[in-house]
Amino acid sequence: MNIILIGFMGVGKTEIGKLLAKKLKMTYIDTDAIIENEHGMAINDIFAKKGEESFRDMETKLLGKLANIDGHVVATGGGMILRPDNVKKLKGMGPLILLWADPDTVFERVKDSVARPLLNVEDQKAKIKEILFFRAPIYKGIADLEVDTSRLSPEDASNRIIKFVKEGK
Ligand code: S3P
Repeated sequence: MNIILIGFMGVGKTEIGKLLAKKLKMTYIDTDAIIENEHGMAINDIFAKKGEESFRDMETKLLGKLANIDGHVVATGGGMILRPDNVKKLKGMGPLILLWADPDTVFERVKDSVARPLLNVEDQKAKIKEILFFRAPIYKGIADLEVDTSRLSPEDASNRIIKFVKEGK
């Protein structure tokens, strides 16, 4: 079994994912980090030099390679769920845990980051709202469990997820 963390930028996939892996003695992996390593380029440069579509292809290709892993907590890039084929693959790997946060919280968490090409715009808050509005039905429609991290510590969020994977509720 794996635990698949999905959700927008700034919802806590990295921090909560690492904590979960530690508590459950599983291995933490992060699809963005694997892609950066494999291609020897930062996500920003991949978007700038090759374009978003190429990055999405890299994500799809990577998922193909991860199909048989076990015992991993997988933090996925925020847009991994945009392709239905990716969602199908993810579902075959383990429960999809949606980490959610309201747009204001996301903004506070990502506003100083320069590593997120989609939010490299003048009006970050408007952009966050726009993308979230489009993606919310996708995220929420495919999730097995939704955890709102807006006012939850990583400790509490990880405990909620552990309860779900152990008890199924
Ligand atoms: C993206 C999220 C990023 C990264 C890329 C695109 C998105 O990952 O994959 O910048 O489309 O939401 P994080 O969610 O880990 O920041």
